[in-house]
Amino acid sequence: MKNTLLIKNIGILQTPVGSYSHKGEKQGENIKMKDAALLIEDGIIKEICENGKLPKGAEEVTTIIDAEGKLVTPGLVEGHTHLVFGGYRQNEIPLKLKGATYLDILRAGGGILDTVRHTRQASFEELYNKSFDFLDEMMALGVTTCEAKSGYGLDMENEIKMLQAVKALEENHPMDMVSTFMGAHAIPDEYKDKADAFIDLLCEEVIPEVERQQLAEFADVFCEDSVFNVAQSKKYLESAKAHGLGLKIHADEIEEIGGSELAGEMGAISAEHLIAIGEKGMAAMAKAGTTAMLLPATSFYLGKTFAPARRMIELNIPVAIASDFNPGSCPSLNLQFAINLGYLRYKMTPEEILTAVTINPACAIGRGDKVGTLEAGKQADLVIWDAPNMEMLCYRFGSNLAMQVIKKGSLV
Ligand code: NIG
Ligand code: FE
Repeated sequence: MKNTLLIKNIGILQTPVGSYSHKGEKQGENIKMKDAALLIEDGIIKEICENGKLPKGAEEVTTIIDAEGKLVTPGLVEGHTHLVFGGYRQNEIPLKLKGATYLDILRAGGGILDTVRHTRQASFEELYNKSFDFLDEMMALGVTTCEAKSGYGLDMENEIKMLQAVKALEENHPMDMVSTFMGAHAIPDEYKDKADAFIDLLCEEVIPEVERQQLAEFADVFCEDSVFNVAQSKKYLESAKAHGLGLKIHADEIEEIGGSELAGEMGAISAEHLIAIGEKGMAAMAKAGTTAMLLPATSFYLGKTFAPARRMIELNIPVAIASDFNPGSCPSLNLQFAINLGYLRYKMTPEEILTAVTINPACAIGRGDKVGTLEAGKQADLVIWDAPNMEMLCYRFGSNLAMQVIKKGSLV
């Protein structure tokens, strides 16, 4: 017998439509169905009705959930995290409060390199268990699909250990995981002043092994002052592409050194951060159709300005919003907080924001055909919010407004 679930009495069901990324005016195109009901069969959306009508077969369902007139949206898609890491970095805060910048700390051998030391020391089980708990927390906050980057191993053994942890999480946690290889996240101590040689190691040995074990779908690089320059980033991404990986770039996070232009030139699926992006970078991304993966909680935590989201929408760049969860620049996995910042700091509309945390990141991590919208045929990942509409979700902050999270048709 089929497993069926009916969600009835939905005040507003709000969702973008389609399996493609939405840009320009379409960024804010959502449908809103009032007094809706949604029928799920074996984890897939079967039918959605509005205006008090019920789907066919609604009388014979195995389970019924009453949404009590609340808002229902697709499950949130978290498009950018550094989920797996050893240790924490609370010790950096006093230094920051005395004026040290993110790059000062990294140049002095701390920052990412501190987390690398802890991640290398951690066992697979420790990393797996810690990340598993983070995923539980994320799911309770409304996230149903999550991208995770490696990049705290920075050698063959430990990068593979991180990626295998993500693979095991994909197998055992209800969260759908998408894995990104980010071996080019920092220059490890043993390659200090030898960044080119480290890029060669990644290109010649680690990327081929990642492909051999099928451990990632995407590759990402920290293209930044004092980290990897444009030429090194390009070499790494070319190798990643040749080994079948989709391309992502941490670009213009702190200094504008040409990362977003490179993203456009190489046809990257997304460029991340873009706090310091200029018109040239935006033009290159618009031309290539590269998604801007914006991380407002990182701007907040680093005390930086906010990426020019409105200008990007004007230029027809698809905008996505993610948390950037990591132990340094954003020790928060709360995507609802990023939603608040998208509203107040990016000045995006609630509709544009919903697109930015559902279908746009889904497309930027290769899952646009499966998740990111509520439509018949898509996976039944959705959230019933303790809110009457998206405006409330954008406005309230600091509380978890996710009331019930449904993953593949099951309450989690
Ligand atoms: O996206 N900038 C590079 N990577 C992360 C930070 C990682 C860390 O500080 O541990 C980011 O901000
Ligand atoms: Fe990041």
